[in-house]
Amino acid sequence: MIKIALAKGRLGEKGAGFLAKCGVDTEILKEDTRKLVLENKDKSFQFFMVKPTDVPTYVEYGVADIGIVGKDTLIEADKDIYEMLDLKYGKCKLCIAGFKDRQKQFTSSHLRVATKYENTAKKLYMSRGEDIEIIHLNGSIELAPIIGLSDVILDIVESGNTLRANGLEVLEEIYDISARLVVNKVSLKTKAEEILPLIEKLKGII
Ligand code: PRP
Repeated sequence: MIKIALAKGRLGEKGAGFLAKCGVDTEILKEDTRKLVLENKDKSFQFFMVKPTDVPTYVEYGVADIGIVGKDTLIEADKDIYEMLDLKYGKCKLCIAGFKDRQKQFTSSHLRVATKYENTAKKLYMSRGEDIEIIHLNGSIELAPIIGLSDVILDIVESGNTLRANGLEVLEEIYDISARLVVNKVSLKTKAEEILPLIEKLKGII
């Protein structure tokens, strides 16, 4: 049995579609249920529906052999797992954004960065030798520079609509983001006969 951690929401739904195209029986995922562990009919696959940010944790501990997760989450989680495939959907960019000519208007000694990607922000600015203050938020990050909580934000930008609607701009593009297939390091050895053919099939449909 291969155990798969799928992010609840659009990323996971599309990931399930990819698996179905590879011949995986994902019918069970279409059921309207609150169940968190779902198995296909012949019990060859078990699916866990989890919060996107938790996918790398399930895979690192090996309770899931495979996961589908955004690259932004992977960078932030920095877990000891294999990133095997870029599935090339869920594309967006991780960016620093703010008011073009009004950075550092609110804080004096150092830049304030609002983000849900705290580790990523720390590493980025540390590598540049910049001393910053991170304001951790869980959503609606764009609000922070508008109301003077931060100078800039580090967040994902997809269509750019949220930035535009709030008078903000991309100041710097940091990473290209898309959905990735991740695999537990031990599972790749112990379940190679099941996992490797699945990866090959996925490669064929990306
Ligand atoms: C994400 C992200 C941005 C927005 C970007 O937020 O944090 O706010 O999408 O997308 P856009 O460039 O197409 O406007 P999400 O919708 O996940 O909600 P959140 O603000 O609660 O995190």
